[in-house]
Amino acid sequence: MKEHLTVIDHPLVQHKLTLMRRKETPSATFRQLLREIALLLTYEVTRDLTLTTLDVDTPLCGMRAPILDGKKLALISILRAGNGLLDGILEVIPSARVGFVGLYRDEETLEPVEYYRKVPPELDQRLVIAVDPMLATGNSSVAAIDLLKEAGATDLRMLCLLAAPEGVARMKETHPDVPVFTAALDEKLNENGYIVPGLGDAGDRMFGTQ
Ligand code: URA
Repeated sequence: MKEHLTVIDHPLVQHKLTLMRRKETPSATFRQLLREIALLLTYEVTRDLTLTTLDVDTPLCGMRAPILDGKKLALISILRAGNGLLDGILEVIPSARVGFVGLYRDEETLEPVEYYRKVPPELDQRLVIAVDPMLATGNSSVAAIDLLKEAGATDLRMLCLLAAPEGVARMKETHPDVPVFTAALDEKLNENGYIVPGLGDAGDRMFGTQ
């Protein structure tokens, strides 16, 4: 059984994350850092992709060289902040299929409500990586994974930038088969559901909408 939680503590990731946390960091820099971190996180989340071999001729001789075995990938962005991670991942996996899931929180029930879903076909045959920078309460991640499973996905991973212990625990309890990858596991959630110390509202910081 794979680890349920992987914290990607590579020095470049940690350095960039620290710059993102600073409240003075402007939106343009924040977006650029998120994209760069996404490239680095992608290495880890795809580390065990299977390889096959291909006969190639280098300028010097022929060889049998490793190449991805072609298992189809789907990246699912949980709107809206997921799009920041998505852009970086697509730079290294440009051929991945992409889907979007939109959820908002009902102010009365506090439950996530789906308002948008567009996902690639044949999710059952793909490695599906759901992306959302902030795994806070876990409510929207759990709801997104629920609906991806309903749509047929069986091989799923969750990639985020920051996680709270509460969100990780909720994911583990509800979807123990879905490994979570994050750059940091922070201390806690505050009373408004923000990750502490965190970096604030990832969507607002990306798009300057505060
Ligand atoms: N979503 C955010 O953008 N930030 C948090 O701290 C928690 C959820």
